[in-house]
This record gives sequence, C-alpha cells and structure tokens, in this order.
Amino acid sequence: MKLVKTATLVPGMVISKDVYQDNGILMLNEGTVLTAEIITKLKYWNLNEVTVEELQLSSREEQEAILAPQIAAAHDRVVGITQNLMSSQNLKEVDTFLLRGMVGDLESQINLNSDLLLNLSHLKTYDLYLFSHVVNVSILAIIIGRELKMQPEELKNLGIAALLHDFGMVRVDREIYDQENNLTPEQWVEIKKHPDYACESLSANELSPEILQGIRQHHERINGSGYPLGLRGPEISQLGKIIAVADVYDACISPRKHRKRYTPYEALKILLGDSHLFDIKILKAFIASMAIYPIGSFIRLNTGEVAKVVGINHGSPFRPEIRIYFDSSNQKLDEPVRINLIDEEYTQTYVQETVERNEMEKIYELLGE
Ligand SMILES: [Fe+2]
Repeated sequence: MKLVKTATLVPGMVISKDVYQDNGILMLNEGTVLTAEIITKLKYWNLNEVTVEELQLSSREEQEAILAPQIAAAHDRVVGITQNLMSSQNLKEVDTFLLRGMVGDLESQINLNSDLLLNLSHLKTYDLYLFSHVVNVSILAIIIGRELKMQPEELKNLGIAALLHDFGMVRVDREIYDQENNLTPEQWVEIKKHPDYACESLSANELSPEILQGIRQHHERINGSGYPLGLRGPEISQLGKIIAVADVYDACISPRKHRKRYTPYEALKILLGDSHLFDIKILKAFIASMAIYPIGSFIRLNTGEVAKVVGINHGSPFRPEIRIYFDSSNQKLDEPVRINLIDEEYTQTYVQETVERNEMEKIYELLGE
C-alpha cells in the first residue's frame, strides 16, 4: 500500500486503509474502489492524501479502459471551449482565467496518463481541424516542456501560448485559410501575418510578455528562414521554439484537403529531415517523450510478425510494448502474445515498419474489431 495525494488519484484505485474526517467520522471503508465521483468528494472534503493498494502491472489495461473515456471527454471539452473562443471573433474577450484553467486541465490529464492523451491527439477530424490542432499543440508542447524539466509557471505559460498560437488565423480571410494550397504570393503575405494579428489582438489581455513572444515566434526557424521577423537561433525564445516543433508535427499527422495525413513515424522523419530548422535539444526531448508508434497502431517486426502497439516505454519510443497477432507467415495466432520490446530478451527484435492503411483494414476484419 502507498500514500497518494488526492490530486493524483485515478478511478479504479482501491482504498487500503479506512478514511476518516478530522472529526472522526468514517468517510470511506478499506476496499472501496475509487470512482470519479468519490475522488471529487475527497477533494471537496479537503482530504489531501489517502492510502491505496499498489497497482498491479496487469491492471494497466483495465486502468486505461476506465480512463480513456474520461480523458477523451475532457479533451473534447477543451476543444469545444476553444471552438467557442475562436468563434467569438473578439480576441479581447479571451478570458485568461479560463485559459489557465484549460491548460491546468490538460496538465492534469497528462499527469493521469500522457500515453492515452498523446494517443488521443492522433485522432483527427478535418471539421474541427483548427480547434483540435491548437489543443493538440498545447498537449505536445506541455509534454516537451516536462521532458525539458521546465518550471510549473513556465510550463503554464507554454501551454497558454500553444493554445493561442494560431488564434490570429481568425483575422485571416476565411477563403485564403480554407484554400490551404496553391496560395498566391499576396495570399501568403496575408497568412504570414497571423502571428502578429494574434499578438495585436491579445496585447490588451493580461498575458505575460513571454506568452506573447511565444505566439509571435512560432513560425520563426533556427536558420533564419521563418517569419514574421526571420529571427535566428538564440534570438528565438524557448516557448517559440517548442511550439514550432509541436505545430509542425501536429500539422503533419492531421488530414488536410490537399494531402494525405502522415503517420507519426513519417512526421518524425520529416522533422528530423528538417532538423536545421529546429532546436536540436527540443527535437531530442520530443522524440524521447512522444508516441512514434501510438497505442492501437499496427506494426511489422523484423521477424515478419504483425503486432498491435499496446504500451509506450518512456524514453524508448522506438521500442513499444506490443501484442503479436500474426506470425511471420501471416497466420493468425490462437492466442496473441504480449511482449515488451524494451526487455533484454528482445534486443534482436525491432519494429521494421508501420502497417499500411489498406492492410490494416484486412487485419481488423480478421480480428473482428
Ligand atoms: Fe501558425
């Protein structure tokens, strides 16, 4: 058993010691399985910590099954609020208090399970592109910031700047924004104004200069090829550099009208191919913390076996935990085999490639999913 702070409790945890209020009244019995409602009550009762049973590794999937819908709902909520904010057309009305709350929400979801949230950010729909894009960039930026061991206040500024980075787009002519491709030089000039538009509109809000700088610099590039100012390396703020990486990655893995979406692996290759444009320390932190093979995706091993990704090993994004469904001659196994590629016995085994979309449909059919 272990003592856990109420703020980090997760539904499904089991209370291992009776919980009393200060006045001696018994609130929860030993053996109680925590639900979202009970956790809310514990916070309401101002109980700072409780003793819970240690989690068994085997219950990890159960935990994810419980958490996934909650995190998905919270993610949808943040996307919904962002949609409302951006539809208001009046950036002066953006409530900084609300933004802090939203970023706090994202941060606590990342605390609950960053793999799940990262996985969620890989689910895209075109309709909500801009809204889910800014939320996803915020998630990715916070994950990078945590990997870089940024201080809590800095991390919050980063999350807010990432959430607001493309808000200037609402001032760009809708027709130009929707066109996405084959823009005329004049239209490009207009698109390139969006970082400045955002800062102009937001300057009346109580946002710190670091946040405004991060927003204004998210299209600047290390070699000076970015916009609006063509700043170079050290001239670009840390926030601007982090949002740049998160922004390009999320744009790559999102479906757009004029091109197919890239897989996370392909998006990473694009980023690494353009590594002269980004801060290498930030790229490294990103690779270390991201899901190159997101949970739920199918991969082929060098042995020819086909497996589904079921877990991510922090710091080893190329060696996920997998469940093998098909042997090397494409025969379905009677029982899938779960292995963790980080384990020593699998040092000779590695992910050869991600399974193509059309092949995946066949796999789903065979698995009855
Ligand atoms: Fe942008």
